Amino acid sequence: MAEDGKPQIAYGLQGVVIDDTHICKIDGEVGKLYYYGYGIEDLAQHCSYEEVVYLLLKGELPNAEQLGALKKELVAARGLPYGVRDVIKSAPKTSGPMDVLRTAASALALTDSAPNDNTEAGRYKKAIRLIAQFPEIVAADYRFRRGEEPIAPDNNLGHAANFLYLLHGEKPGDAAARTMDVALVLHAEHSFNASTFTARVIAATLSDMYSAITGAVGALKGPLHGGANEGVIKTLLDIGEPAKIDGWLDEKFAEKGFRLMGFGHRVYKVLDPRAAILKAWSKKTGEEYGTTKWYEMSDAIEKAMLAREKPLYPNVDFYSASTYYMMGLPPEIFTPIFAVSRVSGWAAHVIEQQANNKLIRPKAHYIGDVDKKFKPIGER
Ligand code: COA
Repeated sequence: MAEDGKPQIAYGLQGVVIDDTHICKIDGEVGKLYYYGYGIEDLAQHCSYEEVVYLLLKGELPNAEQLGALKKELVAARGLPYGVRDVIKSAPKTSGPMDVLRTAASALALTDSAPNDNTEAGRYKKAIRLIAQFPEIVAADYRFRRGEEPIAPDNNLGHAANFLYLLHGEKPGDAAARTMDVALVLHAEHSFNASTFTARVIAATLSDMYSAITGAVGALKGPLHGGANEGVIKTLLDIGEPAKIDGWLDEKFAEKGFRLMGFGHRVYKVLDPRAAILKAWSKKTGEEYGTTKWYEMSDAIEKAMLAREKPLYPNVDFYSASTYYMMGLPPEIFTPIFAVSRVSGWAAHVIEQQANNKLIRPKAHYIGDVDKKFKPIGER
């Protein structure tokens, strides 16, 4: 409490440590990220998304047998329930893909015979189901919007390759499948960010996994969080060519409250290590698809931002945008792709929260009046 009676307020919970966690460590001063102690660079280089799912849900990397068993569980949990398919199909086309995903995530609970089973086994089963179903939901919505029917998963394909197959109806090449796999690994987990915190707040009331993850999707949608990647590609397209970058930035930064999507971070004070990895994948993807323009534009914007009076570093959303765009993916599914990956991190946090639960309930500093004279409705 300060001398004027006003409590110390951590606006936006900035800097507040609210719990212990085993899942993820971010060292924002030096740009390091670990999932259960493993550096993100190693995970991105050597692991599939399924290995990372195992790591996040079980706390250790799998051996070959354990990985095989997890893959079977994920495959067994594929196949969009008809009820959820109908919800997606009936969504007005004016609703965005993140709105549809949020609604479908909630609808998934209605097709679970025990949605409120918060036992350890129940939570794990729901985690697997949600992880398996998110690509199907996103792809079904993508196809309905194009007047196409969803297609059945190919159970010979891994998570990332099957996702691309569900979207396009064609088996992806190895390069596209690996690029998606790396993107999923990089986006899977990031400590107590806004959507994960949302999931933990909901889980801490002892509500169910579906409610927590539905809430998390809503939080991820915002442009200050996962929604930024869609904003990045709009920026790249709006600027159009490298020669216009400096003028465009000067003009925009002259506007009060302007935010350049894909730059800045609450925790990283240096380069986000995921951005460094994705930058290399953006270049590689451009070379594979025969045009590096959007990589080069992104690189030039990064340099221009670092040369400004108040430099800002790119975050994870900056180089994912050009990577997805050059893979032929439309901007409106960039944030849903983020969710397809992050659902594993959310699930891990719901499990961790409920394993050692404490209701999350901060206090506020009330700045309104008290003891106002009450007037009956006819006198107001
Ligand atoms: N564009 C313009 N200015 C930015 C900025 C951005 N992307 N990110 C930070 N800043 C500026 C703020 O205006 C503020 O300046 P000030 O001190 O002169 O007022 C300062 O940097 C600190 O920003 P602040 O909003 O207080 O930091 P935060 O920790 O609350 O916000 C983000 C973090 C991520 C919300 C913020 O960097 C942002 O809006 N980024 C763009 C959206 C984005 O890419 N989100 C994805 C995050 S992974």
